[in-house]
Amino acid sequence: MSRVVLITGCRSGFGLLTAAAAGRAGWTVYAGLRALEHGDALREATAGLDVRPIVLDVTSAEQRELAIAQIIRETGRLDALVNNAGQALGGFLELVEEDELRAIFETNLFGAWALTRLALPHLRAHTPSTVVMVSSASGRMAIPGLGAYAASKFALEGLSEAWRHELALFGVRMVLIEPGAYRTDIFGRNRQISRGVNAPGVYAPWVAGMDKVFASFVDRVARDPAEVAEVIVRVLSDPRPPLRTPIGPSTGVRAALRALIPERVTEAIIGRLLRHAREQGERLLAQKP
Ligand SMILES: NC(=O)c1ccc[n+]([C@@H]2O[C@H](COP(=O)([O-])OP(=O)(O)OC[C@H]3O[C@@H](n4cnc5c(N)ncnc54)[C@H](OP(=O)(O)O)[C@@H]3O)[C@@H](O)[C@H]2O)c1
Repeated sequence: MSRVVLITGCRSGFGLLTAAAAGRAGWTVYAGLRALEHGDALREATAGLDVRPIVLDVTSAEQRELAIAQIIRETGRLDALVNNAGQALGGFLELVEEDELRAIFETNLFGAWALTRLALPHLRAHTPSTVVMVSSASGRMAIPGLGAYAASKFALEGLSEAWRHELALFGVRMVLIEPGAYRTDIFGRNRQISRGVNAPGVYAPWVAGMDKVFASFVDRVARDPAEVAEVIVRVLSDPRPPLRTPIGPSTGVRAALRALIPERVTEAIIGRLLRHAREQGERLLAQKP
């Protein structure tokens, strides 16, 4: 029997591409979808491979249990779990509503934690086994306008760092993947902005400008997500994977700069970015009828 991996969030982006890459590498893949009717792109990308769509909204306790039970019933084993499902939320923190912040944590933190707990008895039975947490460059450095998302990924980083030590006792490897910007649906179909953001108020010029500044940043730097999928599949077979794998536009450089450059300098750079966003925003608002 080939090795079995469960990957969450496989409708698009890293999840879909990782399912295909793992299938090509010979894994039996259970590919989580919030609804099976959303699996057309996945089925097309994985035709001929042992990739099995499975219903899994990571915020649903019932679906988490059913998914793990189905995998064990059908294959009798689980060798790896990739907690990829995730959501972002744009918006200055004062404008983000409590339910929105909680919803981001439900998926990005609690869902990953709860699913991993359920999987662990099975992962322990087939060591060496691996848990991959798809974090983000935003899990190491928080930028304005993405604070809610960064908070959820910082939390995921802390959880995973401690868990790595605990799971090493049993031969289960815990790994964080920290991508920079990649062209996925997180910037399109799944783009989420806090609903309070566009209300008139003290942040208006920055809100108007940030969108433009951010979109042009993503346009300029975002890369092909297949790169991340290949790295995740490589990590699944790595006997000694590092705790953190930063990947993508400037992530290595950013991590190094973070270690070397005083925080005041970083703050000055971000302050300049915000001034630029404000100027752009004021221009846009002035053009509005
Ligand atoms: N793209 C980037 O630049 C980037 C950078 C750093 C980190 N990341 C992380 O990479 C991961 C994958 O994102 P992506 O960029 O590939 O974006 P994506 O194309 O939007 O994919 C996200 C996937 O997660 C699923 N999902 C969202 N909430 C879920 C839930 N509650 N339960 C189950 N599935 C859920 C989505 O399902 P639906 O399609 O049904 O909505 C979708 O399949 C996320 O954790 C994200 O934070 C992305």
